[in-house]
Amino acid sequence: MTASPQVRAQELAAQLRAHDYRYYVLDDPQLSDAQYDVLRRELEDLEARYPELISPDSPTQRVGAPPFAGFQPVDHRQAMLSLSNCFSEAELDEFGERVRKALGHEPHWTAEPKFDGLAVSLTYQDGLLVRGATRGDGQTGEDITSNVRTIHSVPLRLQGAAPALIEIRGEVVMPRAGFLRLNAQAMAAGEKPFVNPRNAAAGSLRQLNPELTARRPLQFFAYAVGAVEGWNLPTTHAELLEQFRVWNLPVTEFLVRSPDLAGCLRFYQRMQNARADLPFEIDGVVYKVDSLAEREELGQVARAPRWAIAHKFPAEEARTVLRAVEFQVGRTGALTPVARLEPVFVGGVTVSNATLHNMDEITRKDVRIGDTVVVRRAGDVIPEVVRVVPELRPATAQAVALPARCPVCGSAVVLVDEQAVARCEGGLYCSAQLREALKHFASRRAMDIEGLGSKLIDQLVDAGLLDSAAAIYHLQVEQLEQLERMARKSAANLVAAIARSKHTSFARFLFALGIREVGEVTAQNLAAHYGTLDALQTANEDSLLQVADVGPIVARHVRAFFAEPRNVEVIEALLRAGIHWPEPTGLDSSAALAGLSFVLTGTLTGLSRDAAKARIQALGGRVVSSLSAKTDFLVVGAKAGSKLAKAERLGVPCLDEKALLQMLGDDSASAAQNSS
Ligand code: IVH
Repeated sequence: MTASPQVRAQELAAQLRAHDYRYYVLDDPQLSDAQYDVLRRELEDLEARYPELISPDSPTQRVGAPPFAGFQPVDHRQAMLSLSNCFSEAELDEFGERVRKALGHEPHWTAEPKFDGLAVSLTYQDGLLVRGATRGDGQTGEDITSNVRTIHSVPLRLQGAAPALIEIRGEVVMPRAGFLRLNAQAMAAGEKPFVNPRNAAAGSLRQLNPELTARRPLQFFAYAVGAVEGWNLPTTHAELLEQFRVWNLPVTEFLVRSPDLAGCLRFYQRMQNARADLPFEIDGVVYKVDSLAEREELGQVARAPRWAIAHKFPAEEARTVLRAVEFQVGRTGALTPVARLEPVFVGGVTVSNATLHNMDEITRKDVRIGDTVVVRRAGDVIPEVVRVVPELRPATAQAVALPARCPVCGSAVVLVDEQAVARCEGGLYCSAQLREALKHFASRRAMDIEGLGSKLIDQLVDAGLLDSAAAIYHLQVEQLEQLERMARKSAANLVAAIARSKHTSFARFLFALGIREVGEVTAQNLAAHYGTLDALQTANEDSLLQVADVGPIVARHVRAFFAEPRNVEVIEALLRAGIHWPEPTGLDSSAALAGLSFVLTGTLTGLSRDAAKARIQALGGRVVSSLSAKTDFLVVGAKAGSKLAKAERLGVPCLDEKALLQMLGDDSASAAQNSS
């Protein structure tokens, strides 16, 4: 590489921006993820070595801004207006009549989708994204700059010549597919799912931690301008959107121009038919006067322009009878109440099941079996029960009861009230949870069974060879060989890896059990505190609350797990199969690194990352993944990424490997290779 770092960094940034645009806006990537990562890593490395090369619009700067406390208010330079609505052709005609009267002629119209998301204003100064804000009350919104920067289809810099200043108005939406994925993850993690994609988009943008926003699948569509300086607006809306496109701003592909409102109405019909098949939600169509000069002439009333109107789609709702409520068990044991309905046609499909979300919702809506209920296809995705029709309630209507036992495995059901989630405590025993539990059990940070990955676990469960974690330890080479794509050699390797995993640590074993809310660190704390499984199993909630980082919810989950006889059976079977760990060493809380937090970055040469982590923890230190001003030390290995630059910015002291080893009391530290 002969180019200077500065030139190379610019090249890389330009390439990554172009690929981001192809990937996130055009949906047409040219590179594999791996190829993309190579470019990205090269830029990160350059920026780590030469922090002065980090420009605010560098593609590496989308994530990683530190969490901030609350949102600052920001004044919009030009107010963000709302739209008047109409629900019928008659109302639309009145609107058309008013416009014609004011202008003295029929204008040209545009029609486009009304996105069902969150309105935002993006301020670009000399082409650079400097601010993102919510609508707020129209005059003052909230500063969500760090969050909008994580939306990949939002350009950090406008492509080509740009105005001195421009406020781009548009909508942030969450595509349906991403919404479903996010909710599946939320349910799997025992969190409350979002009600609809709009709420999910709004909730994601209003995350105080932009790193969380970055993980949410958000999309942006630009549809209007606010204040503009140093640039002449084009003459029509259609041309404006065309210019947005030139700047690399995402714009809807559904825009039509029409000489009359009849053409707009045809578009409305088309969109209504296409609605269910669009990748994101729309709740109507917006008609706008195309000419910007005519818009000026028309002006605004109250807080909505006179030149535009939203034609809303009718809500897709229907009435039917609730026949029964059944409870489905998710992958982590969460019980979701499902309404079994008298089949009813809503929004183009026959619905016979609808979600009731959770027990809180059932209580709040006072839903009883036998009730006539209003069903809505919420966002055309998951049908939901909106409300009951009380005047049609039969005398025989019955309250919905949460089952005391899991409908799949018969284990106790526990209601975690803070989360309104009812959960089967069957854990490893419940077959609905078995696959996920096994995957977790075998994973690297748990029992670390090399070769026992997700696909193989599915295969083994399907073949009836695995019905509990303990069964892993009884798998035979001969059985494994029978599986598709499994040769004798790999079967033998797997059996050997399974045998090796029997020698573990108490903390890993605890983590592997998959007790709700007991992650790696909590497992380590519990293991260090109690030392033996017996002591932990007999600990009561008060005792558990004494353990570092253990609060009432964790304590309750730990208690509930060990109170379930089936879990105890699985544990006993695992111990009988030969799982063992060294006796406690008796470390105390006055440990050398007690209270200190460490972030590791780059490659360590003398010891593995896991080993470094284990040794820091053994001395009472904490190893965390995200770097903030509160971090005590950044441990820097070879090829450190952007964390190094960030630590320098935040003033977090850095340790090289040698310094770390010294801190760990390693006498041979001076002999260890020093990486830089
Ligand atoms: S134009 C001055 N176009 O609907 C008018 N708004 O209910 C500026 N919305 O606050 C807005 N899709 O958040 C416009 N294609 C679209 C839209 C749209 C959704 C939102 C916008 C507005 C709200 C009014």
